[in-house]
Parts: sequence; C-alpha cells; structure tokens
Amino acid sequence: MSNSVRKPEEHLKLFLPGPTEVREEILDAQGQWMIGHRMPESIALFGRIQPKLRQAFRTQHRVYVTASSGTGMWEAATRNCVAKRVLHCTNGSFGDRWVQTAIANGKEVEVLEAEWGQPILPEMVVERLANGGFDAVAFVQNETSVGIANPAREIAQAIRQTPGGADITIMVDSVSGMTGMEMEPDRWDIDIVLTSSQKAFALPPGLAFASVSERAFEKAKTVPYRGYYFDYITLEKYLVKDQTPATPAISLLYALDKQLDTILDEGMEARWARHMAMRNCVIEWANSRGFALFADEQYASPTVTTIANTHGIVIADLNKFLRTRGMVLSNGYGKLKEKCFRIGHMGDWQVDDIKELLANVDDYLHLQGISW
Ligand SMILES: Cc1ncc(COP(=O)(O)O)c(C=O)c1O
Repeated sequence: MSNSVRKPEEHLKLFLPGPTEVREEILDAQGQWMIGHRMPESIALFGRIQPKLRQAFRTQHRVYVTASSGTGMWEAATRNCVAKRVLHCTNGSFGDRWVQTAIANGKEVEVLEAEWGQPILPEMVVERLANGGFDAVAFVQNETSVGIANPAREIAQAIRQTPGGADITIMVDSVSGMTGMEMEPDRWDIDIVLTSSQKAFALPPGLAFASVSERAFEKAKTVPYRGYYFDYITLEKYLVKDQTPATPAISLLYALDKQLDTILDEGMEARWARHMAMRNCVIEWANSRGFALFADEQYASPTVTTIANTHGIVIADLNKFLRTRGMVLSNGYGKLKEKCFRIGHMGDWQVDDIKELLANVDDYLHLQGISW
C-alpha cells in the first residue's frame, strides 16, 4: 500500500497523554476500499469488532461505538442515565469538564472535589452519598491532567454497599485508562465505562466506545430527552444488527478491527503489566534525577506520569530539543502548564521506547548544566 503521504523525516514519536503513537500497519489499515455502511461487508466488519471489543473491555455487555471523541460518550452517559441528580467526583480538569457536560444538559449536579494530585477515595464518595437523592455517580478512573489513578474498583464496591447503592448508575471515564490499566466493568459492577480511540488503544482519534450494563440500558428507557445522536436505545437497535444508526467512521473501524487483534494477542493482563512497567521506569527515572512526582505515588497512573518541574526547566525548550531527536512529550495541563511536564506511556510503546525518550531528556538536562 502506498504510504507516500508519510514522510519519515516528519515522524514525531508521541509520548503524549493522547493522541498517542499509531503503528504504521494500523495507519495503513485505514486505507482499505470504502464500503457502504448498510452493505454486508460493513455488517461483517462491525460484527467482527463487537466480540473483540467486549473482550478488551472485559464485559459481556454491549459496547457502543460512535464516530466522536470521548466527550461524546460523556454526553451520552449523562443524557441516558442521569434521571435527575448526579454526584460528580473530580480531581482534575477532565473530571471538571464532565461536570460542565452534566450542567449543560440540565442535570442536577453535586460535585465532590479532591485536591489535584490526590485520589478520590471510597469513603469520601460514601459520605457524600449520604446527602441522598442521587441516581448516578460519575468519576474519572485515570485523570490525565494530573496523572492519577482513582481506585475505581474500591469506589464502585463502596457505592454498592450504601443503602440504595445497588440502584445507582456508576459511570466511569476510562478515556486514558482502558486497555492500559486494569478495568473490569462486570466484575466491579460498573454500569458505564467510556473511552476514546486515541489513548491506550493506540488508534487515531475519532472513535469513542462505551460499555453499558443491562441495568443502565433498562434505566435509559425511562429517562426522557436522551438526545438523538447518542441515544442508547437507538444505538442498541442498530448494534444488534451489527450496524450504527448514523454513518460510522468506516476507515477507523478498519483500524480498530486490526488493532483489537494486536491487543487481544498481547492479552489484557500482559498489556496492563507492560503499562505498569513503563510507569515504573518513568517514576524511577524522575526520582533518580531529582524530580518529584506531582501525584501521590501510591495512585500514580499507569499510562501518564506527571512530573513536577522541580529543576525549573523551560518545557517548551525541552520539547524543541526533543523534536530534533524525533519525539515530543507534553507540558503540564491547564494551570500546571509550566509547573509540570507529562510523559504519556500508553498504547503500543514498550519500556525500551520510554528509555530512549528518557535518555534524550537526560541529554537536554546535561546541556542545561543540570546534574543529579
Ligand atoms: C480523562 C479524560 N477524559 C475525557 C477526555 C476527553 O476525551 P476526548 O478528547 O476524546 O473527547 C480526555 C482527553 O484527553 C481525558 O484525558
């Protein structure tokens, strides 16, 4: 297949917390012939994808696929499964943005905030649930803005043990977590887990996925004004026919089909372990270079590490230097822009790739006269 549009000299290895690196064979998979989305070829493609997605999501339930980014699936979860009042737990920018989504959709929202860099803990959620009246709880499993992993399993378990907790819809954003860290929607009894394609799936941006439990699906039937594009009931009607209501992003589905084979061949446990190994490599490096981690190390994210800029380097200059070596990392998010830098270690990267990046950062530090 021709790849003349991709000039090797323009390739930058992306050590970002998304979009992340996409392998060439996956980029190439997108270039297959176009098909109509009601044609048997498309139905076969979607039909092949669905069981593989369920395996990757570790769920027996449906996994909806939309031509959108993950933000669309926030809106979907909120519109379909918040009947009235939702508790949003947040400890970073993405948690905050999901709150804005719920408000923009006219839901009654209460916000539980943990300090940035600190986890949301089960007991905090339980305490707030005692205020009563919540039919849904939402939180981010892996807060990309600060590099912290909230203990999703324990939070879900604690919610279920509260009075009335069995009926609460638990909605989890695993946009930068899914396939890069442990997530078990069925075993942990989490109703909705949503994610985007451009993170640990190592696909181009443009697709979003959400697993939806039977309980959540039944609830959605009772919630009015679910909207149109992201209505679970309509998505389901087509999913059972291996189709989507609107035109899907067919080229991306080709890429997804191929990438799911790689993900499942590696195995979920192995993939999670590889991400932990990359994380540990970055943490060890940061500690040994006199940097500090921004997030509580006990809850450090397996897919993105946020490093406090304790040496006061100019992150834009570091990135300029790294570009000359064919790679980039990320500055801190929002208010942390110059205070931190973030290394995305997600998707198909291996520990050796991370070591290569870190060796180049070392070169930059040496040039700045920073020693450790
Ligand atoms: C944790 C988290 N949630 C949601 C989003 C938004 O996802 P998208 O950009 O795919 O809409 C992001 C994006 O980086 C994210 O990191």
